[in-house]
Amino acid sequence: MMFNRRYLGKGKADGGPCFEEEEYVDAIFTILAHIYSFCISDYLPFLRGLDLEGHGKVREEATKVLEKYHDPIIEDRIQQWRDGRKHEPQDLLDFLVSLTDENGNIPLLSTDEIKAQINEIMIATLDNPSTALEWALAEMLNKPEMLQKAVDELDDVVGKDREAFRLHPIAPFNVPHMSLTDTTVADYFIPKGSHVILSRVGLGRNPKVWDEPCKFKPERHLQDCNKGEEVVLDEPELRFLSFSRGRRGCPGVVLGSSMTTMLFARLLQGFDWSILANQGTIDLCQGKKDSFLAKPLLAVAKPRFPLHVYSVSR
Ligand code: HEM
Repeated sequence: MMFNRRYLGKGKADGGPCFEEEEYVDAIFTILAHIYSFCISDYLPFLRGLDLEGHGKVREEATKVLEKYHDPIIEDRIQQWRDGRKHEPQDLLDFLVSLTDENGNIPLLSTDEIKAQINEIMIATLDNPSTALEWALAEMLNKPEMLQKAVDELDDVVGKDREAFRLHPIAPFNVPHMSLTDTTVADYFIPKGSHVILSRVGLGRNPKVWDEPCKFKPERHLQDCNKGEEVVLDEPELRFLSFSRGRRGCPGVVLGSSMTTMLFARLLQGFDWSILANQGTIDLCQGKKDSFLAKPLLAVAKPRFPLHVYSVSR
């Protein structure tokens, strides 16, 4: 969607990712892992230059990997628009390059601003859909009757995604925020300058709000909507945290919801899923360092359609 191409590298002949994709995705997850790292200079800013925990260096190295792949594509694309070889936007990068100011003059964004926006969007987009889906499929593989029902009823699938966000958020907390003014939320007084860290687990598994909070019960979300109405992944009431709210809330609610549900629905529709013969049930333990499955999901996917339906285009 961003660069109008399937792979950053050449891709493997069988259609799978190759070294370039793995290096790239690893770099994004390294950056994401550092969003929550404790950093003394967040509290004592005069220490910032010392990078005492070494996080700055790790983040810089990971950002260099992203830039190694992004920058040549971005620079080439900007040149194509300048030379008049491109007129119509075909992907998100084209939209950013062709944005105009109120007088219709392009470019609105400088090359550095476009590069920064692309880094931001790539970092913000990757982990949520993939993690929600991995957890939802893992939970459902242990309940084959539910898996079957979902294959039959794709609307229901949306409820599964939503339940994965409630029960298995990608991280225990929302992205840290800082209060700009004194404020009061319910019974809490939050002084200006406080670091506000919202617990996703505390919200999503709150027994005052959720009946049997630790159970995977996607049908509970169907009660939230009228029959026939779309089940949405957003949770404006913040009874659990999917896209968050307010000024810094996620700008990708519609795109993120479509990506997650389409990805999940296509995986369920395209394959018969089962547990490996020697495995018994899927181990639903959470990792010690993060909220991902401790053991990445390993399952058997048997195509449900003729093989040509699955052919990969580059
Ligand atoms: C299921 C998919 C997604 C989920 C659950 C999700 C969730 C979130 C959450 C919880 C935040 C932090 C909000 C806060 O700080 O309070 C966020 C931020 C953000 N998301 Fe998403 N997101 C998803 C997909 C996307 C997509 C597809 C895009 C790209 C178009 C995107 C772009 C962003 C950006 C740019 C931010 C940072 C906003 C800011 O700090 O001002 N997200 N997202």
